[in-house]
Amino acid sequence: MKPPVLLTRRVPASVLSRLEEACSVDLYQGEEAIPRGELLARVAGKQALLCLLTDRVDREVLDAGADLKIVANIAVGYDNIDLSAARARGIPVTNTPDVLTGATAEFTWALILAVTRRVAEGERLLRAGAWKGWSLDFMLGMELRGKQLGVVGLGRIGTAVAERAAAFGMRVAACSFDRPEGSSATVPGGPDVEMMPLDRLLATSDVVTLHVPLTPGTRHLIDRAALARMKRSGYLVNTSRGPVVDEDALAWALGERLIAGAALDVYEREPLVHPGLLGLDNVVLAPHLGSATTETRAAMAALAVDNVLAVLGGREPLTPVSP
Ligand code: GLV
Repeated sequence: MKPPVLLTRRVPASVLSRLEEACSVDLYQGEEAIPRGELLARVAGKQALLCLLTDRVDREVLDAGADLKIVANIAVGYDNIDLSAARARGIPVTNTPDVLTGATAEFTWALILAVTRRVAEGERLLRAGAWKGWSLDFMLGMELRGKQLGVVGLGRIGTAVAERAAAFGMRVAACSFDRPEGSSATVPGGPDVEMMPLDRLLATSDVVTLHVPLTPGTRHLIDRAALARMKRSGYLVNTSRGPVVDEDALAWALGERLIAGAALDVYEREPLVHPGLLGLDNVVLAPHLGSATTETRAAMAALAVDNVLAVLGGREPLTPVSP
């Protein structure tokens, strides 16, 4: 008898067939996140749950899935999972680090360039038929060369973003919760990184980019006070998790022109976007696409499957989430 597993979204066929060779797969076929009631009903009797960041895996789900031996999140972030509840039940939780680092770093740069060079704003104007032709002072943005990139969170993705800064001639500052302030870090293939406290990073950076996980300590890390500390000419970019930024405060700061602009890939209440942001021209709004390349999404699904096959085969998970 193959062990029964629940997969809450379609994955590439080659990845699915590898899972199906070893497991009896209950695949949720919907285009949108599995409804809560379906998740609760279908997790019953399953030995593994392969889920997405849009699936809230809390006590109720873990109780409904009393036979679960693993929860494999197809994402690097795992704030959607109640880790302590999983730990209390002895259920390992895995995520998909590394395989999405490059794609997410590339997308962060897409947003940095889009907001500093007003790409989306310009396209909107052009499509609206409002372009009057080339002019010397039309839609000026900020050049990156010689400016400071402030990386908040120098983990895998933050480091990959910093690495790419060398190509644009930017200086890099960073703050990290596990590196001493005032030290400097060397990023392979990238510029030297000056470690500094968050307050100084905010006050001195031309572009601030967020790469921290969402935890109780980072929720609303960027609030009114943090935004007020930034340069008026500064830009904020968020490809981490929406609640790291207080969206009310950000809409206020952008509206008051306390900062020059922002580019967001993630939101506090996805897929809802703060109405105060939707009307502003100085913010680029992307629909959570950081890891969205064909290659990376396939690799994420494959890694989740590898984790499930390892645990159901009596081996250690490859990428367990550390407490
Ligand atoms: C995407 O946001 C992820 O955490 O993988």
